[in-house]
Amino acid sequence: MADWTDVSSDRPTRTIWLHDDGRTVVVIDQTLLPHAFETLDLKTVEDAAVAIETMVVRGAPLIGATAAYGMALGMAADPSDAGLEAAAARLLRTRPTAINLHWAVGVVADAMALLPPAARAEAAYTAAADIADDDAAMCSAIGDHGLRIIEEIWEAKGGTGVVQVLTHCNAGWLATVEWGTATAPIYKAFEAGIPIHVWVDETRPRNQGASLTAWELGDRGVPHSVIVDNAGGHLMQHGMVDLCIVGSDRTTAAGDVGNKIGTYLKALAARDNGVPFYAALPSSSIDWSITDGVAAIPIEERDAAEVTHVRGQAPDGSVVTVRLTPAGTAARNYAFDVTPARLVTGIITERGVAPASREGLASLFPDMT
Ligand code: MRU
Repeated sequence: MADWTDVSSDRPTRTIWLHDDGRTVVVIDQTLLPHAFETLDLKTVEDAAVAIETMVVRGAPLIGATAAYGMALGMAADPSDAGLEAAAARLLRTRPTAINLHWAVGVVADAMALLPPAARAEAAYTAAADIADDDAAMCSAIGDHGLRIIEEIWEAKGGTGVVQVLTHCNAGWLATVEWGTATAPIYKAFEAGIPIHVWVDETRPRNQGASLTAWELGDRGVPHSVIVDNAGGHLMQHGMVDLCIVGSDRTTAAGDVGNKIGTYLKALAARDNGVPFYAALPSSSIDWSITDGVAAIPIEERDAAEVTHVRGQAPDGSVVTVRLTPAGTAARNYAFDVTPARLVTGIITERGVAPASREGLASLFPDMT
């Protein structure tokens, strides 16, 4: 069981909300989890941009919602056309891979462009709230559709034993506004009484699995075990994984799935072992303008220090960063990879489960293609 007992039980179940003043945006500082639960106030567009850059908030859908509120903060400070352009440009520079960022900034910017400056701040807050509410609703629907897959597996097992799910990174409620993408079907299955156990990839180098997914599953009482990133293939060879569910930062119109580094290797192992491999994502994570993910999805390369060093809790309770590698060792930190559609069993969306193909996605989203 995860060690999360030092956190209070009256935490919010959403990751982003407005302060009572109706203007300040409040988020959970995810860089402190799982060792401390603290919130952070965002008062300016720069605050929102820095929160995204430094991974105070992370996960494609939450990055989108934070960017939308960042636009609102920008409009409250300077609703002019120049202010609008500057807010959008600043937010778009934060992280390259998650398409939700571009989508959310675009939605708010397009709405602002139709309004006189005096009307923009209030309308931007309304647009941001709509984006957040829609994300929560989409993730809940993803949970309902994914639940059916888990139910089928449970029935195929004769209603005995435990459904074993492997997930990578954190595609949980912390990565979205509520529910999560990959975790939504897990939470719904758990609530439905299906015995479930989750293999949580630690997800080096930022360890979103070990720090965040383990924390949130533990918080809700969902049985899980953290495994090192290289364990998944071994577990699959031994029949210890019934299905994989991962999230996505950018999925192409043809079903190639961009997600946290290491996802591709899990998909290869899943294919070799006949384990179904699903990506769960809202339509806001689909980039309809591209088809070839390996060629076209921009892959963020982050600071090498995230590879050479690791952060954790010392015996005295303090959180410390220690070096893993010899001083001066070169390191590269590719943060995402692309899983080709041919390795993806299906894409679980808010409108249902689509085959990972252009036709499959178009059949669910004829209005977006
Ligand atoms: O670098 P991060 O933590 O923002 O990466 C997050 C992921 O890769 C998630 O799996 C992805 O955003 C899907 S989130 C619902």
